[in-house]
Amino acid sequence: MSADPIVETYSRRADEYAGAENQQSCWGLATRELWPSLDPRPSDRTIVDVGCGDGSALREVHRRAPGARLVGVEPAAGLRDIAAGRIGDIAGAGVTDARFEDLRLPAGSVDYLYSLMAFHWVSDPAAGAAEIGRVLAPDGRADLFFIGRFSGREFIKATTPIFLRHFGPARVFGAARLRCQLTREEAAKIFTDALPARRVTVREWFDTRYDTVAGHMAWWVRIEGQLLEFGGPARDDCEAEVRAAIGALETPAGVPYTLHLLHVRAEPRDAAR
Ligand SMILES: C[S@@+](CC[C@H](N)C(=O)[O-])C[C@H]1O[C@@H](n2cnc3c(N)ncnc32)[C@H](O)[C@@H]1O
Repeated sequence: MSADPIVETYSRRADEYAGAENQQSCWGLATRELWPSLDPRPSDRTIVDVGCGDGSALREVHRRAPGARLVGVEPAAGLRDIAAGRIGDIAGAGVTDARFEDLRLPAGSVDYLYSLMAFHWVSDPAAGAAEIGRVLAPDGRADLFFIGRFSGREFIKATTPIFLRHFGPARVFGAARLRCQLTREEAAKIFTDALPARRVTVREWFDTRYDTVAGHMAWWVRIEGQLLEFGGPARDDCEAEVRAAIGALETPAGVPYTLHLLHVRAEPRDAAR
């Protein structure tokens, strides 16, 4: 599929993403804590995980709905390979090269679609939401968990002046535009408009996590500090200043980072509450 700096980064760093350190990081732990909120049902025939990453959640979903055909959708080749290995022993399960904007699945074919921490990478949220509506079966359901507009305020406030000084406004705002961080209200409008036949609910919450500077840097660079990932001559000096600025946030509990999380749920209008 088309070149996308975010997808390329995920692909290049796939082993690191799937590694134990990332799974134990603020990001990895926050993601796993969402697993109990997923809603696979034994009666589901086809279940899709969009932006499935290393495939860990697919294994969990298989445990809860062992008869379902599982499809992982993942645009990053490196992660697709790891996910394919993780679910290789599950009959009928597979990982495809696709994305929110073009799921490459037949219309009305999905009983349950979920996504963990990936929708904020969609390039066109309305198109992504419409594509979800297209593939869901008439009685299909969807749960999307992703970060919202106000995620990481502490880090953004501390590091934006540094990035601006080293890279200039065009690159800084260009990198920020790669993320689609919606408010709760924006997400509600986009999904309600795109899925008019369904009941859409959007929940938001804030979750402050504490870690060391090194622990945070390992995952944060992918999410908001991508200018360090993309490099350029200013990179090394900038990285040292960014580390110092994040270190200066330290409290006795560690360095805080507040996730702003959104949960979009779409279900048939007559679904029991
Ligand atoms: C933070 S990771 C989450 C991975 C996995 N869901 C998990 O729980 O660990 C974000 C994932 O979204 C994928 N991604 C990036 N852009 C995407 C897009 N436009 N459509 C679908 N997935 C995308 C990345 O390749 C990556 O696997």
